[in-house]
Amino acid sequence: MTTPKPFAAIVLAAGKGTRMKSDLHKVLHPLAGRPMIDHLFASVATLGPELQVVVVGSGRDQLEPVAAAHGASVAVQDPQLGTAHAVQQAEAALAGFDGDVLILYGDTPLVEPSTMRLMLERLNAADAPAVVVLASRPADPLHYGRIIAGADGTIFKMVEYKDATLEERATDLCNSGLMAVRAQDLFALLGRVGNDNAAGEYYLPDIVMIAAADGRKSAVIETAEWEVAGINSRGELAAVEAEWQRRRRGWFMAAGVSLTAPETVWFSADTEIGRDTVVAPNVFFGPGVRVGEGVRIHSFSHIEGADILSGAEVGPYARLRPGAEIGEKAKVGNFVEVKKARLGRGAKANHLSYIGDAEIGAGANIGAGTITCNYDGFFKYPTRIGEDAFIGSNSALVAPVTVGKGAIVGAGSVVTRDVADGALAVCRARQEERPGWAARFKAMMAAKKKAR
Ligand code: UD1
Ligand code: CA
Repeated sequence: MTTPKPFAAIVLAAGKGTRMKSDLHKVLHPLAGRPMIDHLFASVATLGPELQVVVVGSGRDQLEPVAAAHGASVAVQDPQLGTAHAVQQAEAALAGFDGDVLILYGDTPLVEPSTMRLMLERLNAADAPAVVVLASRPADPLHYGRIIAGADGTIFKMVEYKDATLEERATDLCNSGLMAVRAQDLFALLGRVGNDNAAGEYYLPDIVMIAAADGRKSAVIETAEWEVAGINSRGELAAVEAEWQRRRRGWFMAAGVSLTAPETVWFSADTEIGRDTVVAPNVFFGPGVRVGEGVRIHSFSHIEGADILSGAEVGPYARLRPGAEIGEKAKVGNFVEVKKARLGRGAKANHLSYIGDAEIGAGANIGAGTITCNYDGFFKYPTRIGEDAFIGSNSALVAPVTVGKGAIVGAGSVVTRDVADGALAVCRARQEERPGWAARFKAMMAAKKKAR
């Protein structure tokens, strides 16, 4: 996607976020498996920003590394005197930049890149508005700031709920807080914002009225309520998450993924699923999951950081942890945990296993209850199982260890040494048989009991 002019993004995140009642900075709380603010970084990135500045206050030690990871600089706002004052703190970071500026809120993470681009396009339309404000008409307008605008989207007034008259409060056109302004206009307008209002704060929306006093129009763009829902509390976070999940389920189904009971499946922002894959009820996708085409994922599977290749079958009750790679047409059945391990094409681990730090060759069969003993309390070690090998049930493979191609490990074995290709390894006590012993024992015990 391209924007009309180079642009910079300012993300406001200096608010205290007191209603979260959390030691974790509000914008770092996860939504769809990734920190709220990372949704914004991801969306902004698709538009190719020139510069990104995060305005931080308390908890900045938590935000600095996150900003750095996305190539954003940090501007500190201390004390926090309002949204206009917050944007002003980014001025030094934008020194010399004369493109467009997109103002975003760290706690309003789901704005679509297409909406961001529309705002920038509107700013560069022929009538050249001074400010473009993103608005919505929420079902419950609550305490959002209100926008008094004409039918053509020209803004007459922006007013905070606290300062609004009853008549102004009755309008349902609400300020999302997000704006687009040219850099050279922005800081000049901000310099003229006062704090003579109900909150005693420097309000960013005031720049619209200041531009109007100069005879310059500002324009409003409307978008859907869900896109600009702000998150101030854990309750609001859960509500936004629920809406995100609902939308993503619809999106996957439209893309050719079958969800038997969509309302019970949970996705992460980066979940990828190929067409004709069927996801049964009650499946959880944590971050970092890619699923190929025609895969079947049965109920109660918990999957994160895993690659599941086309035609594979997973679950029910499978746990795939980071680094799991399930090959084409491979099968991971019930109560099998796979961590940092690759199952080759057509390999099977159907029941009750732990497979960690392992490489399982194509077509290998891992019997029920097989455990890769990958950890000695200090270090982790790899297990390698060759193609078409057969591991008998209830075997313990003590890593580091290699079982060769086509080899067979007898059930109940504790394998501590490598097994050669094509060999049979049986590592358990030899079976002993005493003819008639059981019958004699039972007769003796029964007689004893009767004598009491
Ligand atoms: C703000 C808007 C309101 C809009 C609402 C949408 C103002 C004056 N009001 O109100 O019109 O309907 O958002 O959610 O702009 N922040 C700072 N420094 C500050 C104050 C806030 O960085 O000094 C940041 C916050 O971290 C947050 C954003 O700005 O990301 C909004 O702040 P918040 O206090 O939640 O504003 P609202 O009162 O909700
Ligand atoms: Ca807010």
